[in-house]
Amino acid sequence: MTRTLSRSADPQPAIGERLRARLDAQLAARGIDVGTPLPPNEPEPNPALEAAQKRIPYDYRTASAAHPDVTAWVRTIAGSATAPYADSLQPHYGVGGRRMVARGPSLLLWGATGTGKTHEAFGAIRSLTDAGCAVPWQATTAADLYGEMRSRHGADPEVLLRRIMRVPVLLLDDLGAAKNSEWTEEVTFRLLNWRAQNRFPTLITSNLPPVRTPGIPPGQPVLRDRVGDRVLSRLSGMCTAVELTGPDRRFQAR
Ligand SMILES: Nc1ncnc2c1ncn2[C@@H]1O[C@H](COP(=O)(O)OP(=O)(O)OP(=O)(O)O)[C@@H](O)[C@H]1O
Ligand SMILES: [Mg+2]
Repeated sequence: MTRTLSRSADPQPAIGERLRARLDAQLAARGIDVGTPLPPNEPEPNPALEAAQKRIPYDYRTASAAHPDVTAWVRTIAGSATAPYADSLQPHYGVGGRRMVARGPSLLLWGATGTGKTHEAFGAIRSLTDAGCAVPWQATTAADLYGEMRSRHGADPEVLLRRIMRVPVLLLDDLGAAKNSEWTEEVTFRLLNWRAQNRFPTLITSNLPPVRTPGIPPGQPVLRDRVGDRVLSRLSGMCTAVELTGPDRRFQAR
């Protein structure tokens, strides 16, 4: 037989009046006033997020991704993160540990200056860390990467490139903004080709539209002009291109 709750029936109070009076008296005797509002909830400390936070440039430390395509990317990457030590033969092995970011798609955030591309990218990295994923990440502008590789006093450029290729989540900021040459094209190609072939999630930002479309004035450069056909082909294979629009937020902030 199915029992249904009558809508008119009042639910029983959790405790009766006499019991409540006795409890209140006992609490009052201990100096506890049940009428006092509870202090506001403090957020739980998240050591991984705090550690990640220190490496994020000051301007982006509170960034949160808001663009629907960026939040969808975060969900995809967080959803495919795997338990440490798990593999296809033992998928549940080690499920108690923090999930590691695995392979996945990449994003190309493009748009005019100040529209929030770098903000969205750091917001995405923060969200991944906050979602409980272990996210070894690195962020560099393309210009800084070329500069570091050219430096005579730094590490071996080949070692540097191979290291950055293998970073699980990479933010390559401002692609196409640096002066291009055959050498920069080769570095960018090797970096993105390896990451595309191995499906390592990469966030790329650029001020330039990826390719020339009918509305673009002939004198305005596009990303393809700056990075070359081979890099653009890798980008289109690995990335969802997301255009960020709107005014320059730096002017708005003033
Ligand atoms: N959603 C947002 N909420 C609050 N501040 C934001 C937001 N998006 C961007 N900003 C702020 O606006 C400024 C410009 O954003 P950001 O640096 O991300 O732009 P950008 O598109 O990367 O610009 P550029 O092409 O010059 O690199 C920054 O100071 C950033 O902190
Ligand atoms: Mg930027």
